[in-house]
Amino acid sequence: MTKNIANTEVNTNVILPSFDRTALTTRIVHLGFGAFHRAHQALYTSEMLEKTGSDWGICEINLFGGEELITQLREQDHLYTVAEKGAIETTLKIVGSIKESLHPTFDGAEAIIEKMAEPQVAIVSMTITEKGYCADPATGMLDKSNALVIADLNNPTQPKSALGYIVQALKLRRDRGITPFTVMSCDNVQENGHVAKATILEFATLLDAELGAWIKDNVTFPCTMVDRIVPAATPETLDEITKLIGVEDACAIACEPFRQWVIEDNFVNGRPDWDLIGAEFVADVVPFEEMKLRMLNGSHSFLAYLGYLGGYAHISDTMTNESYRKAAFDMMMKAQAPTLNMPEGTDLEGYANLLINRFTNPSLKHQTWQIAMDGSQKIPQRMGASLRFHLDAGSDYKWLAMGIAGWMRYVSATDEKGNEIDVRDPMVEQFKAIYQAHGVTVSAVKALLNIEAIFGTDLKDNESFVTEVTKAYQLIITQGARAAVATL
Ligand SMILES: NC(=O)c1ccc[n+]([C@@H]2O[C@H](COP(=O)([O-])OP(=O)(O)OC[C@H]3O[C@@H](n4cnc5c(N)ncnc54)[C@H](O)[C@@H]3O)[C@@H](O)[C@H]2O)c1
Repeated sequence: MTKNIANTEVNTNVILPSFDRTALTTRIVHLGFGAFHRAHQALYTSEMLEKTGSDWGICEINLFGGEELITQLREQDHLYTVAEKGAIETTLKIVGSIKESLHPTFDGAEAIIEKMAEPQVAIVSMTITEKGYCADPATGMLDKSNALVIADLNNPTQPKSALGYIVQALKLRRDRGITPFTVMSCDNVQENGHVAKATILEFATLLDAELGAWIKDNVTFPCTMVDRIVPAATPETLDEITKLIGVEDACAIACEPFRQWVIEDNFVNGRPDWDLIGAEFVADVVPFEEMKLRMLNGSHSFLAYLGYLGGYAHISDTMTNESYRKAAFDMMMKAQAPTLNMPEGTDLEGYANLLINRFTNPSLKHQTWQIAMDGSQKIPQRMGASLRFHLDAGSDYKWLAMGIAGWMRYVSATDEKGNEIDVRDPMVEQFKAIYQAHGVTVSAVKALLNIEAIFGTDLKDNESFVTEVTKAYQLIITQGARAAVATL
C-alpha cells in the first residue's frame, strides 16, 4: 500500500480532525470537487464538525474532469490537507468532513442521481464555475442553445449538466414523497442562488411543467457570497506541502489565510451551523456579493489581463509594480465602490486595503492566466453594472475601460512578444473569428463590442464608452500593457 495521509502519521504541526468520522452520513452532496471547495466549504464543514460533533458529511462529485483527483481522494480515505499560507506562517489542517465520493466515469449517472435522492441528503451544493449554470451571461436565463441543455432535455435520465442531475434527483424525491433538498450555489456568480433557481426552473419546466411548478414551490436556492483566494494546485504546491506534512497528499491545496462566507438563511431541509466557525447567515446577501464581485473580482480581472500582457505570471507579481498597485486600488475605490449600496457602517476603504494586502501575499502563486479564464462569463458581472452606473452619472470609469480593453487584447491569443496565449473561454471560437478578420487593430474593438451576450445591446452604441475603450486598446497595442496601466 502506498503511504498516504490516511495510513501514515503526519508531522505533529498538522491539525487533524478529532471528531468521529464514522458517525458522518452524507447530508450534503457537492458538485465540483475543485480547488476552491476543498479550501472553503469542505474545510468550514470540517471545523463545524469539530465544534458540534454532528453528522453532516459530504459526498464529493466531479461531473467534468477530475477523475484522478477522485481516485486519489478515495485512496486517502477522503482526507486531504489545506495549507493556509500567510506572508510569514503556514497553517496545515486536515479536512475530515468528506464521507464519500462519486464520479460519472466510474459510477455512472444513475448512482449519482440515487445518491442525491437519498432521504437524509438535505443540501446539494455547487462550485461548478459560471458555465456550469448553462445561463446566457447577459440575461441570466437558461441558454437553450447550450449543447448540454439540449442533450439533457432529450435524455433526462442520463444527464450531463449539473442542472440535469439536480432536476432528475428532485423528480425522484417528489415521486417518492421525500422532502426536497436545498440547492446552494457557492460559485462566484452574481446572485448565484437566483441564477441557479432561474436556470433549474426553466430547465425543469421545459422537461415537465408540473415538476417545474413543484420545484418552484418546494425548493430553495439561497444566495451565497464566498471569498478565499485558492490558486490551482501545481506540482510545486504539492511538493511544498509534502515537505511540511511529511507525507504525500495528491489532493492537498494551498490558499490564503483569509476566508469569508455570507449565506442567505433560506434552507428547506435543515443546515449545518457554519456560523459557529465564522460564516454569516443573513437575510440579503446581494450587497456583500456586489461589494466582492466588483471590488475584488473586478480588480482581479483587471490585473489578470493587463498583468498577463505585461509579463506578470502571478497577481502578487503585478503588485510589485507601483502603477498596477495604484490602478487596482483606484479601480476599487473610484470605479467600483461608488456604485455599491452597502449597509451603514461598511468600511469600503478598509476593505480595499485588505484586498491589496491579500493580492500582495507572495506565498500565494495565483496565476494571472487562471483568473483570465472564461472572461466572457465574468466581465458582465464584474464590470458591466459599474460601467452603466458611470455612463448614467457621467463620472470617470477609465479603469473599467482599460480592464475591458486589456481583456480584448488578451483574447487576441497572442501576447506582446508574439507568443501564443492559451485562451480558455466558452466563446473562444468567436474571438478567433473576430481576430482572423481584424487582426490586432482597433477595428477588433467594435467587433468584440457587438457580442451581445457580453455587452448587451446598449454599450456598443454608447459613444463615450466606445471612445474610451478604443483609446485604452490603442494605448495597449501601441505602448504595451505596462505603459498603458501607468497612464491611469
Ligand atoms: N479558486 C478561487 O480562488 C475561488 C475563489 C472564490 C470562488 N471561486 C469559485 O469557485 C468555482 C470553482 O473554482 P475552482 O478554483 O475550484 O476551479 P477548479 O477548476 O479547481 O474546479 C472547477 C470545478 O468545476 C467543475 N466543472 C467545470 N465545468 C463544469 C460544468 N460545465 N458543469 C459542472 N461542473 C463543472 C469541475 O468538475 C471542477 O470540480 C468558480 O466558480 C470560482 O469562481 C474560486
